[in-house]
Amino acid sequence: MSEYDALIAAAKQGRENAHAKFSNFKVGAALHTPAGKIYSGCNVENATYGLTVCAERVAIFKAISEGERKFDAIAVVTDTDALTPPCGACRQLIWEFCGDVPVVMTNLKGKTEVTRMSQLFPKPFDSSNL
Ligand code: THU
Repeated sequence: MSEYDALIAAAKQGRENAHAKFSNFKVGAALHTPAGKIYSGCNVENATYGLTVCAERVAIFKAISEGERKFDAIAVVTDTDALTPPCGACRQLIWEFCGDVPVVMTNLKGKTEVTRMSQLFPKPFDSSNL
């Protein structure tokens, strides 16, 4: 049992919808709001490869487009022994939209590690630089 169980379950559920027919690498993500709402996402690939959107960004865009503006945790789930951290592009957007949130990385076997965005993304560019 952990405080992130519901978030992890949502990320796993999101992963079930991954459209990853080019890489076969299915990713699920889920975002938690202070009010307790959860928005999930999966990676969505397409034939250009380059227009792929990662699970984390899908979750962010879903939540933002529904009017959410505050988040207090994000989870990422894959079926790998080595846990999957968000890619560089996702780190930028997680930082800008979620700030220094806990990042819960987990796999289907239940291995879990929690780190923070300030550790993953220590010298960010954001609106404070403009
Ligand atoms: N991917 C994610 O969805 N999130 C990550 O944090 C890492 C990578 C996706 C993109 C692509 O569909 C597949 O994983 C392989 O890179």
